Amino acid sequence: MHEKIRPSLRFEKMRNHREPTTSRTALFPSAAERERWDNLLTRELAGANARVSHGSVTPTLDLASFKHELAGFDFRTPRPLDDLLTWAIAQMEHGLVHVTHPRYFGLSNPAPTFPAQCADRIAAVFNPQLATSATSPAAVEIEAHVIRSVAGRSGFPSESVGHFTTGGSEANYTALICALTASNPRFGTEGARAFDGPPAFYVSRECHLAWVKIAHQVGIGRSAMRMVATDGCGRMDQKVLRDTIATDRARGCVPVMVAATAGTTNAGMIDPLPGCAEIARTFGLWYHVDAAWGGALIASERLRPVLAGIEQADSVTIDAHKWFATTMGCGMFITRHPSALSSAFQVSTSFMPSNVINLDPYVTSVQWSRRFLGLRLFLALAAAGWAGYGEHVERSVELAELLRERLAAHGFATVNQSPVALLCIQPPPGYGDPRSIARRVLASRRAWVTAATFEGNEIIRACVTNGETTADDIAELVGILQACGPETQPSLQDSK
Ligand SMILES: Cc1ncc(COP(=O)(O)O)c(C=O)c1O
Repeated sequence: MHEKIRPSLRFEKMRNHREPTTSRTALFPSAAERERWDNLLTRELAGANARVSHGSVTPTLDLASFKHELAGFDFRTPRPLDDLLTWAIAQMEHGLVHVTHPRYFGLSNPAPTFPAQCADRIAAVFNPQLATSATSPAAVEIEAHVIRSVAGRSGFPSESVGHFTTGGSEANYTALICALTASNPRFGTEGARAFDGPPAFYVSRECHLAWVKIAHQVGIGRSAMRMVATDGCGRMDQKVLRDTIATDRARGCVPVMVAATAGTTNAGMIDPLPGCAEIARTFGLWYHVDAAWGGALIASERLRPVLAGIEQADSVTIDAHKWFATTMGCGMFITRHPSALSSAFQVSTSFMPSNVINLDPYVTSVQWSRRFLGLRLFLALAAAGWAGYGEHVERSVELAELLRERLAAHGFATVNQSPVALLCIQPPPGYGDPRSIARRVLASRRAWVTAATFEGNEIIRACVTNGETTADDIAELVGILQACGPETQPSLQDSK
């Protein structure tokens, strides 16, 4: 049996002798060791990053042997951190689809800006708790400052409030909770039972399907989501929207919210924002705009007019981790109604150090403990200004236009008219179906696109997401797509 050492004696010994390296000190190494590992990380990451941008966009690791190796981590025998850091970086280098690759024309996860990466590093060191302004006054003020700037830039009134979220889904979830609470203040205590009939909300059938889970989460059920038909161009059909709301009301349902999309996920289309605002107003419903991707257009003086009508919204979702290119897990929810968030999320506790209405994030948002997300957009905006971000989104749009032109010259059609650097592509006759072409592009390892549906048709979806993509990368993608043509199929297969 082990001899028990009194805690007081153990700590006394520790004071007198420098602790030898033990398993526990691996968690909290000395300042000198930390500096060495920080430098190692910086060097190794820079090397991996450079290799990624010239290497395969898709994972190259052998999953079976990786899983075998992973199983060897039984967490009984500690391993040296040097080895672990280089091992972890190598697995990321070979085991991911690289959103930082200049030919990742993918879903809405861009290569992050450098200031955003720096912000993550700073937040990781200080690890501030952003639940309250009492614990993290500077950090809470920085986030509130960024939210006010984004709100102002979106045309919202100065009293608007909001917060950072983990992403667009949480921001949209927040919108529905605010809409339900505004529609019936008893929703907070009684839930869906507070309503005289089943609540309903309205999105287009091209919306992001996180709304399905959101309807489930808030407790009004998935059937509360009405997917309104689109107009043949991927935008919410206003007449169908109006009729659906009127019919629901006549049947005893309780319409609570219209949620328009500014930048649909598959096709980057923008619903008719002023028209949807007017319909929501006519029926007295909360009007939300999901601008998770398209919201970044507010940065460009030239392009922001396509978002006209967003300023009429009761609330808006804009993801910083999409076109604003912060690191992942960073969205924003903003509402023009200063009391909406407190009405929905206010709670009082004896143990939290403060409870400031409209300021303390734990009483104005879904989360309780929270990470310092807003520093990412703060540093990036402060370093580049709105003008820098304006250039970033305009450049993406110009490259998408270049891709459209080059593809057209080779017989590919673009079937959407999106202002947000996203093309829905139909291949020329004889090329096969879009899904198999997308698979073959991935098999080339030289670019990443996906297949999706737009207005019921299969398309190849390509979005310019990376701020470092060049015209050469566009030319290479065109070449890869062309190589999927009937007469060149074997050569692409060879490059697998
Ligand atoms: C329009 C739209 N809304 C919401 C979301 C969900 O956002 P997140 O993945 O950040 O939760 C997305 C994601 O692509 C989106 O495109």
